[in-house]
Amino acid sequence: MSIEQLAETALAMVAPGKGIIAIDESTGTIAKRFAGVGIENTEENRRAYREMLLTTPNLNQHISGAIMFDETIRQSTKDGVPFAKYMSDNGMIPGIKVDKGTHALAGFPGEVVTEGLDGLRARLEEYYKLGARFAKWRAVINIGDDVPSGTCIEANSHALARYAALCQEQGLVPMVEPEVLMDGEHDIETCFEVTEVTLRSLFDALYQQNVALEGTILKASMVVPGKGCDEQASVDEVAEATLMCLKSTVPAILPGIVFLSGGQSDDDATAHLDAMNRLGPNPWPLSFSYGRAMQSAALQLWSKDLVNNFASAQNTVFARARDNGMAALGKWDR
Ligand code: 13P
Repeated sequence: MSIEQLAETALAMVAPGKGIIAIDESTGTIAKRFAGVGIENTEENRRAYREMLLTTPNLNQHISGAIMFDETIRQSTKDGVPFAKYMSDNGMIPGIKVDKGTHALAGFPGEVVTEGLDGLRARLEEYYKLGARFAKWRAVINIGDDVPSGTCIEANSHALARYAALCQEQGLVPMVEPEVLMDGEHDIETCFEVTEVTLRSLFDALYQQNVALEGTILKASMVVPGKGCDEQASVDEVAEATLMCLKSTVPAILPGIVFLSGGQSDDDATAHLDAMNRLGPNPWPLSFSYGRAMQSAALQLWSKDLVNNFASAQNTVFARARDNGMAALGKWDR
């Protein structure tokens, strides 16, 4: 696989006005989301839910691709079309989550490291055959007393860079995600500092592992105060702080940056993205790769009647895709 082909895929992922829908919840995480709205966590319900999301009419107007979980990429529509094939037939790029989740970092209480490198080359080879063209790995950085440590940041950056190099070797675009969590009482300046040091470490590690940035997408968290911080920030403050942090750490050659929603309200996630694009021109396209901020409203509606609310839940998915697609252009009309 040439760098040019990886770069072409990466650019298509952040095509103007388009973003990614993250539907890669592990079986445990989707269990929590389903429990919140009273849906039984069966394989058929998980399949039907992902079918509802992915077959939303005209989704490809605002969605360039979707990140799936291992179970989902092996599932099909009720008519028997594998989800990955359904997506590529409809002009959307199939993606796959390849990390194996976070585990306690030995020797560093309160910190985690993402696992999943063992056997990754063979798994990527299989995912490519199943149709995936990009792959996501999420690292989690906590903020707290004396946390994060440099060791935690470096361990996570090293793993992200090793996974990214393997992805490119196997023809998949790595979507590297170092998520600085919103949990805690820290202020926005602290989030800025932690995000800055995390991104510096990440791009250093990517360089050391010979990862081609032209064929890489960054999935970033926004610079926001902790959920428990007394002083919350305005939309413009978040947009300015996030842009300043990214501009000082992320090389301009990167094809694009997409954001996670991380527990922000639907409106906040859209408003922040819109504000950052209004402040442009920026060195890279800025778009979205939202999970909760794309799905919550639709999940709520679908849960009330899995059969009769199928189409109305899809209308909600489309509306969220359109709003976020407009925000990716800085043209969201609230
Ligand atoms: P949220 O937008 O719900 O944070 O999920 C995005 C994601 O893929 C986190 O890894």
